Amino acid sequence: MLEVIILAAGEGKRMNSARPKVLQPVGGRPMLQHLVDAARELEPAAIRVVVGAGADQVRAALDGEGLDWVLQAERRGTGHAAAQALPDVSPDARVLVLPGDMPLIRAGTLSRLLQRQADLAVLSFVAGDPTGYGRIIRDRGRVVAIREEKDASDEERRIEEVNSGVLCAGAKDLSAWLDEVGDDNAQGEYYLTDCIGIAAAAGRAVEAVVADSADELLGANDRAQLAGLERVFQARARGELMAAGVTLLDPDSVQVRGPVVSGRDVCIDVNVVLEGRNRFGDEVAIGPGCVIRDCDLAAGTRVEAMSVLEGVRTTGACSVGPFARLRAGTELAEGVKVGNFVETKKARLAAGAKASHLSYIGDADVGEDANIGAGTITCNYDGVSKHRTVIGRLAFIGSNSSLVAPVSVGDEATIGAGSVISGDAPAGQLTLARARQRSVPGWKRPSAGDKK
Ligand code: UD1
Ligand code: CA
Repeated sequence: MLEVIILAAGEGKRMNSARPKVLQPVGGRPMLQHLVDAARELEPAAIRVVVGAGADQVRAALDGEGLDWVLQAERRGTGHAAAQALPDVSPDARVLVLPGDMPLIRAGTLSRLLQRQADLAVLSFVAGDPTGYGRIIRDRGRVVAIREEKDASDEERRIEEVNSGVLCAGAKDLSAWLDEVGDDNAQGEYYLTDCIGIAAAAGRAVEAVVADSADELLGANDRAQLAGLERVFQARARGELMAAGVTLLDPDSVQVRGPVVSGRDVCIDVNVVLEGRNRFGDEVAIGPGCVIRDCDLAAGTRVEAMSVLEGVRTTGACSVGPFARLRAGTELAEGVKVGNFVETKKARLAAGAKASHLSYIGDADVGEDANIGAGTITCNYDGVSKHRTVIGRLAFIGSNSSLVAPVSVGDEATIGAGSVISGDAPAGQLTLARARQRSVPGWKRPSAGDKK
């Protein structure tokens, strides 16, 4: 039986942040979330998360994930943290300990470590720059200790094989070793890594499994390392998109901050940011500079340059932008066109409806093939409540009209340009609500000579 312990109590001083370290985002999600996801793939009997600094924030951020929370009231080191969780762990369980700041680890790598028969197995890697990591000390190949950077001699610091922080052992053994760990070291902390020396000295089988790819095991103690992890994460996410049949015209410029489910022959232009959960049907095209968050775009949808879409659903091929802002609750059917400088919110546009320029359409239902002229505004807010505007099929709204909601415009109705419509406009008729044009005969412009 397997139980996972994730160490997530540290405040992460080196981040210089008000936010607990494990909530720093990588790929738009907290580092801890990534670890929980990887741990869950191993189907453990429990995932125990040790929290301390910002415990409430951490618990709130991962609420509803079915985790067992353990409080480490004082931060006295990784060994102390693990010891807080162990009393709850079944004595027969194998325990996998994960640091909370190592979000790129994959479940497959963890299961390879779990397959080892050793009494104590740690995952190590060869770091180009080992600074900050615990060094793996070997004697004729056998692992005999892990030395933390601050306690290491100059010679030990030159060792490039380092501790990833992932460790696996039997619960009973781990408890016994942790009982022996002291805090007589440079940081005055109880180091989890001291278990390695203790177990090795007792003649137990200790192994360091060198991972093939160091990228997965990078930890983030400061923002420079966090930026490094982000780069690795992005490269991985782009690779997955391309493998799924998405063209990235300039892969390095695309940022993926959440899961994307994608059809084939989707094309994403430069400088696009994908956030939250997105789903793209076949042949969706996203133009340069767009931000797409939590959208579900049907096959053939085209989003032109510099558009920002959030919570948008399209149900057929339609066209958006350039320079459009579509907010939550926007639903566009087949053949809809939303053009430049148009903002929508909670708006449903039926098939073939068009708002090509300079409009605000909020809390509205727009009928099939309706045409919304430039500068049309739905006045949906009276300062207290929001009201709906209903526009019928084949309605034609003249430019620069205000539709003061709640209001409805009937099927095939026409609204004269510049109207302020505050009462329902009947189907099939022309409705005008604007001052009549008049000309004043004999009127003269004032001239400078008139001035006394
Ligand atoms: C640790 C390892 C080091 C390894 C490195 C890998 C120890 C003593 N050192 O160092 O060998 O190379 O990870 O990234 O284990 N935490 C708690 N409670 C505490 C202290 C820490 O929960 O009292 C948590 C932190 O939130 C963090 C994790 O444990 O998620 C690791 O702690 P951190 O301070 O980052 O350890 P490192 O100095 O990186
Ligand atoms: Ca760390």
